[in-house]
Amino acid sequence: MSAALTSFEPATGALLWQGTASDVEAEVALARAAWPKWAAQPIAYRIETLRRFVNVVRANEEALVDLIARETGKPLWDARTEVTAVMNKVDISVAAFSERTGQRRLEAAMGARQSVRHKPHGVMAVLGPYNFPAHLPNGHIVPALLAGNAVLFKPSEKTPAVGEMLVRCYHEAGVPEDAVRLVLGGPDEGKALAAHPDVGGVLFTGSAQTGIAINRQFAANPGKILALEMGGNNPIVAWDTADIASAATLIVQSAFLSSGQRCTAASRLIVKEELADTLVGEVKRLADRLIVDHPHADPAPYMGPVIDNQAADHLTESFLYLMSNGGKPIKHMVRTTKGLPFVTPAIIDVTAMAERPDVELFGPLLQVVRVPDFESAIREANNTRYGLSAALIGGSPEQYNQFWANIRAGIVNWNRPTNGASSSAPFGGVGISGNHRPSAYYAADYCAYPVASVEIEQPRASIGIGLKDIDTSAMGD
Ligand code: NAD
Ligand code: SIN
Repeated sequence: MSAALTSFEPATGALLWQGTASDVEAEVALARAAWPKWAAQPIAYRIETLRRFVNVVRANEEALVDLIARETGKPLWDARTEVTAVMNKVDISVAAFSERTGQRRLEAAMGARQSVRHKPHGVMAVLGPYNFPAHLPNGHIVPALLAGNAVLFKPSEKTPAVGEMLVRCYHEAGVPEDAVRLVLGGPDEGKALAAHPDVGGVLFTGSAQTGIAINRQFAANPGKILALEMGGNNPIVAWDTADIASAATLIVQSAFLSSGQRCTAASRLIVKEELADTLVGEVKRLADRLIVDHPHADPAPYMGPVIDNQAADHLTESFLYLMSNGGKPIKHMVRTTKGLPFVTPAIIDVTAMAERPDVELFGPLLQVVRVPDFESAIREANNTRYGLSAALIGGSPEQYNQFWANIRAGIVNWNRPTNGASSSAPFGGVGISGNHRPSAYYAADYCAYPVASVEIEQPRASIGIGLKDIDTSAMGD
């Protein structure tokens, strides 16, 4: 019998959804059978179908916003930006498809034509995270379908309801039921999908720990495509600036938006020693004012709860760990509602800690490190195995150039937050944040492989060199 699955609203603890885990073998067989027909459709047909998907999402916008807010706990306004990103994805992916994986004609010898075209991989498994349960899987699914792949989408076991609704929208738009399949389950179903011989690749968004496990699983399968979008331990460096209020706002947005549950969230504020007291004081004053409440509350909160009690426990334990190992609390992390995963934004100065753990905390916990000079700031920012996003706040154009040139990250911003990445640009990280297959605008690249052909309608060939003369003496015998 299939395992029972449930999803609860983080903000209330109420049961939101229940279902059962999917039969992976059966789902793969359906997608495998549907793939050739979907791949054979003209690209104009696939584009039109996905444009209808946008209309379906628009028609269901409020319901999807509400469901995302309920299932993740993020405020309604935050969920609304996620749904907007879902709708914008189609036009962006159509442009990326044609720019990055469209057809090209090249000159070839002897009147032949040389073409570069792209083919889909086949059946792709998309494994989604819980923090953006619609936008991030959609960021793989839309380009994969556009390129002619069939898709098996396994949402996070923490957000199956949003995953189910997203797949309903593709089907309602006319994507064949078997060309995009919902696979419900957790790590076991994820592993089974990745291991299946009829799955041509895995498009993954989630933690580095899981991504590395899948990478290991793929070691003997170099022919399978693997796109890993993983976590971060992202630095925000604050340097000389006259506008302390704006600097503090950018730091608060980077660290606490979506309760810090963004892969691009800033978890380390690296600040010039002389500026630290003033700036950190301002960050604390602003963080003290952030409303942490139910996603539907009025007035609207800045942050909702984190995803579940386990995540909230992990965050409060991490704060205590930092404190008992030399960290100096600036703003304590508080569980505001018994039994529910609401935590307040927290700030801790870890400058004096001998060894700072290089882990992704994935919550509203900002660690402060004071440094004496700009070179130390860059060194400290790079002091991580991750490399997703980084930002410099303040500083001169020369310092930004130095920062840009020396920081190891896939997203490097100046006087903008570390998060809120654009879908119109590539999105990926280095180190253990990714495997050099960035998503967003560059997702087209991993959804199809290039085929180079030299073509002419009739065979026409001669060997010009290295042949013996024809022996005419034997002729006529
Ligand atoms: P997770 O790694 O726990 O799970 C992600 C998905 O992988 C889920 O669907 C899960 O069921 C599945 N899974 C778990 N173990 C598996 C295994 N061994 N084999 C195959 N599949 C498996 O991640 P999460 O906690 O849901 O999401 C939060 C993480 O995602 C954070 O680390 C965050 O930084 C990261 N994230 C990265 C990006 C990015 O684009 N770089 C974006 C959003 C979130
Ligand atoms: C995320 O994908 O978790 C965050 C995207 C962003 O805000 O940059």
